[in-house]
Amino acid sequence: MSPTRRRRSAGQQAGATTEAETFDLVIAANRLPVDKVVLDDGTVEWQRSPGGLVTAMESVMAGREGAWVGWTGQPGDEADAPFHNEGIYLRPVALTADEIAAYYEGFSNDTLWPIYHDVIVPATFHRAWWSAYEAVNRRFADAVCEVAAPGAVVWIHDYQLQLVPALVRAQRQDVRIGWFNHIPFPPVELFAQLPWRKRVLAGLLGADFLGFQRVADAKNFVRACRQLGGWQTKGQNVVVADPPREHRIVRAAAVPISIDTQGLAELANRPETRARARELRASLGNPEVLMLGVDRLDYTKGIRHRLKAYEELLDDGQIAPPDVTFVQIATPSRERVEAYRQLREEVELTVGRINGNHSVIGAPAVHYIHHGYPREEMVALFLAADVMVVTPLRDGMNLVAKEYVASRTDYGGALVLSEFTGAYHELHQAFVCNPHDIEGLKNAMLHAIQTPADQKRRIMRALRRRVMAHDVQRWAARFLADLTGTS
Ligand code: ADP
Ligand code: F6P
Repeated sequence: MSPTRRRRSAGQQAGATTEAETFDLVIAANRLPVDKVVLDDGTVEWQRSPGGLVTAMESVMAGREGAWVGWTGQPGDEADAPFHNEGIYLRPVALTADEIAAYYEGFSNDTLWPIYHDVIVPATFHRAWWSAYEAVNRRFADAVCEVAAPGAVVWIHDYQLQLVPALVRAQRQDVRIGWFNHIPFPPVELFAQLPWRKRVLAGLLGADFLGFQRVADAKNFVRACRQLGGWQTKGQNVVVADPPREHRIVRAAAVPISIDTQGLAELANRPETRARARELRASLGNPEVLMLGVDRLDYTKGIRHRLKAYEELLDDGQIAPPDVTFVQIATPSRERVEAYRQLREEVELTVGRINGNHSVIGAPAVHYIHHGYPREEMVALFLAADVMVVTPLRDGMNLVAKEYVASRTDYGGALVLSEFTGAYHELHQAFVCNPHDIEGLKNAMLHAIQTPADQKRRIMRALRRRVMAHDVQRWAARFLADLTGTS
């Protein structure tokens, strides 16, 4: 695609009131790549937004020209003016405090998120939340139509914006519409709980191409269309009525996401990153085994299960500080949603108990850190960690697992990986675990600690072959080729 930017004057298209720039590539995601932070003195700072979506799409958009439609992370009645950030045209969408509560914290993260993650916690249903979800999706669709040039490629992301494909199509038949789901798509038995299930499916079927993390997710979607919506399906395709044409075919396929492997490897090879990794180990007392967990503080990530397994290994006397220590980095997330509040309390209580029972002076059993880190520091941590523990109960992909592997240019370290992550389907040579099986999880952790170094190097070599060959640029190229019909 040849990226171009055009200027369009007021009134050329319905809904446009001021002169706006238009683009051949438009991304729509709940969040912009940067969050607005208002400091105590009233000055505004823009900081990188959390989560795997931003990590992936930031790399994809570097070097491309395009627009990104999304929310700033702050409440507001009026959208901030569009602005350029690192070459991308950012088009903010305003969300009021009530809409944040109903559309983002409510419908997206307290209704859809649990249903799409095996109902690990029960889903909450409120009709007012659905109305807010519809209204906000409409606003996103209008913003997309405003910045999309004639014939543009529109790439919509994730479960927060499932109605946007059909809403954009209703206004703009000239654009090509794709949607990618960063999280799992649930089995039909769970999706069936959603009172608005058919309207969600109809919203998604406004797209030309739908991308999912795993083959099973794409199949779940097609089956839901057939069984809950009555659409005709054939293999990966759903047949949609499209007057005045006879019909339109929407394809749903697996396009597993990845990371900027080369960028991470380069960062890991820098002498200052390696020095920082040594410094981190030294500041932890140079333990024989440094175990690491890095997650958003989300109940899907299996942090409680991981801590329980670690605590039992300490209780059993199979490991002990100062020889072994655990660093858990937990990025704050969705803190006004009750299930997340409860999780934080439980995790912090558990960490306190483990440390009370097992720490020795100068050598805590668990180092718990509740904030984000810059990328350089993350890579230094990955290099410092002997065992990376990734134990989600359900996760669309889990980019952290891939980032750890990409960072281990020294072929060191070991990855404990839950079979309920998308990443498992590519990294099955890792020390695989079922996090619900605490004995099994303890064994996987011990195995990762005790396996001889040369064997671990062979495993890491195999993992790296996969991750290095399938990076985020390849993922984006494949998605766009599937969407534009050039694959
Ligand atoms: P999710 O999208 O559910 O948050 P992923 O593992 O797919 O989970 O992606 C998380 C992304 O956020 C990764 O790129 C990871 O490096 C980054 N990240 C997670 N925790 C932190 C943290 N504490 N500081 C900085 N980056 C973090
Ligand atoms: O992919 C899952 C996801 O919800 C993304 O949409 C987002 O990047 C990330 O997790 C972080 O979530 P939130 O935007 O709710 O902080």
